[in-house]
Amino acid sequence: MKRYFIAGNWKMYKTVSEAVALASDLVKKLSDCGEKIMIAPPFTALQAVSEVLKGSSIILGAQNMGPEESGAHTGEVSVLMLKDLGVGAVILGHSERRHNYLESDALINTKVKLALKHGLEVILCVGETLEEREGGRLESVLRGQLAEGLRGVESSVLDRVTIAYEPVWAIGTGKTATPEDADAVHAFCRGVLAELYGKEAAKNMVIQYGGSVKPENAAALMAKANIDGALVGGASLKAESFVPIAKFRES
Ligand code: PGA
Repeated sequence: MKRYFIAGNWKMYKTVSEAVALASDLVKKLSDCGEKIMIAPPFTALQAVSEVLKGSSIILGAQNMGPEESGAHTGEVSVLMLKDLGVGAVILGHSERRHNYLESDALINTKVKLALKHGLEVILCVGETLEEREGGRLESVLRGQLAEGLRGVESSVLDRVTIAYEPVWAIGTGKTATPEDADAVHAFCRGVLAELYGKEAAKNMVIQYGGSVKPENAAALMAKANIDGALVGGASLKAESFVPIAKFRES
């Protein structure tokens, strides 16, 4: 049976005590959930949440990381620091990083390779803006983000790479791509991955959908052949909405 990868991106929300409370609640409520689950609290709460997750199968994720192992990089957090706290996966190339902080494909690619070199799992986010979609540039944008983001990544480490397709116009807006539309774009991404790594490798890669995933639409999205999980923002901030998404099979 397919095991889905459901990840929560808490973004810049939650103090340490709030993060600990939510993580504790999720550990309890998801102990019987068979899907692969990850939560990504802000950096400041990673250590405390790491303690809460000990002994549970929930993976501790980070939302970003610096492009070097160490050095004079004011304000950055290194892959070594993340590993030290028990982080198992890192979200890279989120559209908020690309658009608000002007992260380039080349920078994201450096981070992807560094995270993989140190044994972390990577969720590489890709997605088009509304303007790009309406201008007919959906495919070229996604092809570029995938090829550039994965440049130099060997097929032997692809089992630690997840792609998250997140149309920028659907993030935090309440607008979700229809399951059919998302599935078609996922199929396109899988085709690009096949060009890069071969059909078999592409078939095995996990492609999450992200953008206003909620308890009401999770099951319909997960029912699609090319959708293998979800990267959840707003709805991951409360157990009442994240638990039913993770347990979408019960809805
Ligand atoms: P959203 O965010 O679920 O709040 O739309 C998704 C994301 O940015 O990962």
